[in-house]
Amino acid sequence: MLRTFKKKVLGVAGLLGILSSTSFFFAGAILEPEDYPSAGELGAPLVGVDVAQYNSGRVFFDKDFQNRDGLGPHFNADSCQACHNRGAIGGAGRRDLNVFRVLREDDDGILSHASEGPLVSRGSRWDVAKEDSPRTNRVFEERNSPPLFGLGLLEKIPRTEIESRVDEDDSDGDGISGRIHELENGELGRFGWKAQIPTIRDFVHDAFGQELSVTTVGSTFAVSEDDDEFADPELDPSILDDVEYFIQSLAPPPLVSNLSDGEEFLNEEGEDLFESVGCTACHVPELSYVDADTSTPIIVRAFTDLLLHDLPDALAAAPTGIPDGDASATEFRTPPLWGLRFSAPYFHDGYSESVENAILRHGGEGASSVENFQSLSEGERAALLFYVENL
Ligand code: HEC
Ligand code: HEC
Repeated sequence: MLRTFKKKVLGVAGLLGILSSTSFFFAGAILEPEDYPSAGELGAPLVGVDVAQYNSGRVFFDKDFQNRDGLGPHFNADSCQACHNRGAIGGAGRRDLNVFRVLREDDDGILSHASEGPLVSRGSRWDVAKEDSPRTNRVFEERNSPPLFGLGLLEKIPRTEIESRVDEDDSDGDGISGRIHELENGELGRFGWKAQIPTIRDFVHDAFGQELSVTTVGSTFAVSEDDDEFADPELDPSILDDVEYFIQSLAPPPLVSNLSDGEEFLNEEGEDLFESVGCTACHVPELSYVDADTSTPIIVRAFTDLLLHDLPDALAAAPTGIPDGDASATEFRTPPLWGLRFSAPYFHDGYSESVENAILRHGGEGASSVENFQSLSEGERAALLFYVENL
């Protein structure tokens, strides 16, 4: 009961927070042991991790930060789980919790970060962002919260394996290029819709700073100062360690079980079609790394190549999106599809309620697989959708 109530309140808090720092929030609900997912359930830890540190990180991921913890002055939500809670703590987020990216466009079409004035470059309220911004010279992109399950494994995939699939000039002529998002300092971007952030730790800095306005130090993605009355950095470094550990320890989403024989059959047909229409060119079923302790190869079935692809929205009337780092307005990192059955709504903006709509939006490098999808028989399309919807 408490949890349901809390979630409702958080939705509102997230929306109001950007206007001003208010203090009507409820104290963080410390999770009861029975709330913890057990092995095989969504949100459970990987086997063999330090469960005490995972639990501690989970408490801080769930905690409703208060002003006295450094929250504010302007923030999108008062906890991490406010936006990452679908299915379990650490999950995806509803569309009404989307974050907005805002850029300023001058008369020559040059884009820059909207950093001065009352405008936030990242906020969660469309109408507030618009109120502050004449529509003519601002560019917006909405971003929906992705689920965090299994990210620790994606962080371990060697850069060489990711680079082995790069085909920047499409030398094999299949219409699909794919390139890494290399950051200015040479690091490989892995996380975020545009692979704009290299490590989970950097993302934790970024999220505390940008979403909660709780200041940290130690990363180029940290927000190290803000103008509330509390001394910076506001976050105890051990909390940052624990939240990083919690995310790194989240097991990948469990595979679907208890399909009937008929459904198994459909699922297998869908899996074959997923490959034959060309989805696996980007949603690569398997990546791998070698476990440092045991020297055994670990297969990661995430359905991504972690590369950027040019994927303009095929259903949009006009071009959309903003560049981010080296990624252009229409380049996105192939999102992992594992656990898709828990992560609706889909696409970077969360505007696809159905998997089919998400497929039809693949333009650019994704266009030929959509053509192949559309030329399937009705039964085949149903099988492919069944497969993807049950990942
Ligand atoms: C207001 C909503 C919101 C809150 C609160 C929030 N996030 Fe997120 N999170 C997002 C969005 C949106 C993205 C995708 C951002 C992007 O790609 O630009 C994201 C992405 C992430 C990612 C990368 C996921 C991936 O697959 O690449 C991590 C890690 C993450 N968040 C951690 C956190 C942590 C830790 C906190 C709390 C300190 C937090 N988030 C709070 C909305 C939120
Ligand atoms: C050229 C690379 C490429 C190909 C081929 C491709 N995808 Fe994608 N897919 C992407 C990218 C990039 C996105 C993210 C686009 C965005 O959010 O704007 C995406 C997004 C998705 C999503 C939404 C995921 C989420 O978490 O919101 C689904 C579902 C999906 N693809 C399924 C498919 C299927 C099914 C096929 C085959 C018919 C396919 N894709 C072919 C690159 C590709």
